[in-house]
Parts: sequence; structure tokens; C-alpha cells
Amino acid sequence: MRLPMIAGNWKMNTTVGEAVELVNEMRKELDTVDGVDKVICPPFVSLAVVRELIKGSSIMLGAQNMYFEEKGAYTGEISPVMLADLCEFVIIGHSERRQYFNETGEIINKKVQAALKVGLKPILCIGERLEENKAGRTKEVVTKQLSSALAKIDSLNGLIIAYEPVWAIGTGRAATGKQANDTIGLIRQTISQKYDKKIAQNLRILYGGSVTAENTAEFMQQPEIDGALVGGASLKANEFLSIVRQTSEIRAR
Ligand code: 13P
Repeated sequence: MRLPMIAGNWKMNTTVGEAVELVNEMRKELDTVDGVDKVICPPFVSLAVVRELIKGSSIMLGAQNMYFEEKGAYTGEISPVMLADLCEFVIIGHSERRQYFNETGEIINKKVQAALKVGLKPILCIGERLEENKAGRTKEVVTKQLSSALAKIDSLNGLIIAYEPVWAIGTGRAATGKQANDTIGLIRQTISQKYDKKIAQNLRILYGGSVTAENTAEFMQQPEIDGALVGGASLKANEFLSIVRQTSEIRAR
């Protein structure tokens, strides 16, 4: 049985003060929901303070990005070693990083390797763009992204995958439960072929892209979907709580 996970990607939102406020708004209730892993991913500058606020609770912490070198003259970058000291998860290869910061498959592969090396759990994001989807190239695109991101990686221990179709991110146009389930099933099959069946069956694969309190149930009822990577809706305490609660209830059935 795969434990579901709901991760909130706050993206480039919240000052330190706002991050504190948001955590304080949801911490207590979020902590009481079980049967689901709850992860919040605030901006780098708030990681340390949020870590203190959630200490002793069941809420876990993640970063949104990192560089692949351990240390050195890379002005402005954050290393895996620094993050391993602060949090448990790190989002890698988000489509916004691929699109606006030119992250290639090769860079993403180095980041995944570097994260795993220091014991950080990567949440690896993959997903096709609208024109690729329209051209019927979803399978080809996600398979290619997977094989480049996971090149030279033998153990997927700790890895989580998030299937985030680019056309669904921040658009209010989520995939349907069936669409997401089909593609995630396909991702699992690819992992099964590349590694083995057991690894694929144990791997958690999340859906991301316009997940809200209204459509959560549709995704969580699907057998292949192990949770969600939530953007906009994770910035509203009540909505994030509702997504987490619904996931817990549906999966407990
Ligand atoms: P939205 O939930 O805002 O569409 O963002 C999804 C996402 O990119 C999470 O990483």
C-alpha cells in the first residue's frame, strides 16, 4: 500500500511574515489528519522559520529547487547539503524551472542524483506541454523526461514523481481524473520496465495542475494517483486542509 501524499508548492509567494502566518493558520488542524503525508514547500528564505514552527508535528518540509554541487563558488545557489540540514523533500524539474530557467534533462538528472546522495527525497516533476498533448505525444514526452531525469540512477529509494501536465498548471483547467490516472499508470509501467515491478508498485506518483478542494476527490478516487502537488490552493489554509482531509478520508475507505 502506498501512503498518499499532499504537497503544497508555494512557488514564489509569501514573505517570511506571511509564511509564518499561513503555517500558524493550518498547523494545528493539519497535524491531526492521518493516513496521508503532508508536505509544505515554502520559499528558501522561510524554510528555517517554518521548520521551527512545525517541529514535533506530523507536517513535513520541502524546498522548491536546489543546485547540484555540494558547495563552492556558485553565487546565489543553494546546495543539497544545506537543504538536507533543513528539510526532507525537494521539488526538482518543475516545468516552471524547465521553461523560465532553462533546466535541461541533464541538469535535472544531476539534481536528482545530488539530492538522493545526501538523503533528500526528490519530488521529480514531469509533464507534457499543451501542443505536445494535442499532438498525441504525451507518452513519448513523459517517457523521455523520465529516462533523462533518471539516467544512471539505480535506486529510486525516497524518490517521488509528480505528473504535472504543463497545460493544467495555474490555468484552472485540471486534467480529468481519468486522464491523470492513465498517464500516471503509463509512468508506473515505464518505471516497471526500467527498474522492476516491485519498485514501480512502491513508487508514489502524484498529480499536479489546478488541484482544488472541489476536484480533489476526482483524483484521489483513481487507483494510480497517490496524491497531489498543489500550487495555488496550497496558499489558502482552509483549502489546503480540505484537500488533505478529503485525501485521508477517500484513501481510508
Ligand atoms: P497550480 O495548483 O497552481 O495549478 O500549480 C500546480 C503546480 O505547479 C504545483 O507544483
